[in-house]
Amino acid sequence: MDILDRYIAEHSSGQTDALAWIERQTNIRTNHARMLSGAVQGRFLTMLTEMIRPAKALEIGTFTGYSAVCIASGLPEGGHLDTLEINDELEDLILEGFDRAGMADRITLRTGDAKETLQRLKADGAGPYDLVYIDANKREYCTYYELVFDMVRTGGYILADNVLWDGKVCLDPLPGDRQTREIARFNDMVRDDPRVESVILPVRDGLNIIRKKC
Ligand SMILES: C[S@@+](CC[C@H](N)C(=O)[O-])C[C@H]1O[C@@H](n2cnc3c(N)ncnc32)[C@H](O)[C@@H]1O
Repeated sequence: MDILDRYIAEHSSGQTDALAWIERQTNIRTNHARMLSGAVQGRFLTMLTEMIRPAKALEIGTFTGYSAVCIASGLPEGGHLDTLEINDELEDLILEGFDRAGMADRITLRTGDAKETLQRLKADGAGPYDLVYIDANKREYCTYYELVFDMVRTGGYILADNVLWDGKVCLDPLPGDRQTREIARFNDMVRDDPRVESVILPVRDGLNIIRKKC
């Protein structure tokens, strides 16, 4: 953590005991702890959710449930979050975290490939969602966006994480790896989509905040 990140963390509200537990377990039980949103972005997600007041929210990419708990914590009374995760080995850890956070009744974990789960949710008439958080496979961001778009209500928000990809999306020439290329394509696609307005904020690895106008 650099000096500015430390200052920001020390001067923002801290995380709850349940979130600290999820963070600790993620470090102990997985090899990918850096994928977790963390305290500052987590608090930002909670606050955005409190501002948007979604009746229905959707997350694509649960990992160990940290951001899901942050979003669920900001939901209004009766609000609900569907969260999609492909890795079924994480299920026990995710569900225990939801339980410890007192959020189990506000969140439904749907295990499987999000692309298939989204098709199924659409066929079942799920939504409309007021808030969608995209944070799964970086090589599939455009696909998630296209699949989910019709399920978002007009005036609703799509948030996409990691859209600066460690600054690689700004390099010229663009690096050849598929993650960088897809995220750059996603940012271009959103900017050029007349149905939305958007702003990228440099929070952690970049958050694209997208509002569906029509
Ligand atoms: C960056 S992590 C999510 C972090 C989480 N949102 C947080 O902040 O705590 C990305 C997650 O997406 C999952 N994932 C990748 N491809 C997926 C897919 N096609 N469908 C559902 N989940 C997927 C990965 O298994 C991983 O757990």
